[in-house]
Amino acid sequence: MPVAIVTGGSRGLGRALVHRLAGHGWAVITDARDARALSEAVEGLPPERVRAVTGDVGHPSHREALVAAASALGGLDALVLNAGALGPSPLPAVADYPLGALAEVLHANVVAQVGLVQAALDVLRPGGVVVAVTSDAARAAYPGWGGYGASKAALERVAAVLAAEREDLRVYVADPGDMRTAMHAAAFPGEDISDRPPPEASVPGLVRLLAGDLPSGRYEVRSLAGAEVSP
Ligand SMILES: NC(=O)c1ccc[n+]([C@@H]2O[C@H](COP(=O)([O-])OP(=O)(O)OC[C@H]3O[C@@H](n4cnc5c(N)ncnc54)[C@H](OP(=O)(O)O)[C@@H]3O)[C@@H](O)[C@H]2O)c1
Repeated sequence: MPVAIVTGGSRGLGRALVHRLAGHGWAVITDARDARALSEAVEGLPPERVRAVTGDVGHPSHREALVAAASALGGLDALVLNAGALGPSPLPAVADYPLGALAEVLHANVVAQVGLVQAALDVLRPGGVVVAVTSDAARAAYPGWGGYGASKAALERVAAVLAAEREDLRVYVADPGDMRTAMHAAAFPGEDISDRPPPEASVPGLVRLLAGDLPSGRYEVRSLAGAEVSP
């Protein structure tokens, strides 16, 4: 049974991916800071397949706990860096961006992610997969998206360098596209986001990255043709 760590499994894309993987032969370790939301999110999933570990991926001891859970299952096949921070809502212009909030976004979306990769590399099996979930805001200059966009751009670069350093792994930068989630609602406060696709629409492409043999690189997951689920 392949083993994945998927951070941020209590809602949105992480929850959708955890459910899909757990239903298709994977063992999944997932997390979130809100214990109650996390336990509700995994309710009904087979406990022998899903381990929910409450905590903040920004904290080293929590990252170690995630990796220890994978180790207890014999090793790790896939690490999905999904949990992330948007920053203040409404999104501030660069001119007004509170520096403390900027540091928090960079810590959550870059430093914590590198910390988790570092902690997980020892248990990642040869041929293992790292998926860094990014955003088009890493590349396009949307007003208000300077903090979040800068953090995702940095995450993308770290993942690309990891791919160059570790040819024994597959390292993906995965853009899920706009999704109807809590983060998206916070990015567009007061706006109707009901026209955005649900996070489930981005899951088949992510599964294709996890279970396929595509080369390391950046992918817009909703446009991955033939995306299907097999462990
Ligand atoms: N939604 C979009 O349109 C969109 C577009 C492009 C990219 N993305 C990216 O896709 C990923 C998922 O986004 P989403 O929209 O599904 O977000 P979401 O609905 O806000 O869900 C985020 C999940 O991550 C958890 N989380 C957040 N910070 C955490 C931390 N420090 N430690 C542990 N868990 C944490 C949250 O639970 P707790 O709050 O309880 O910790 C929640 O389970 C993110 O990387 C996001 O940047 C989203």
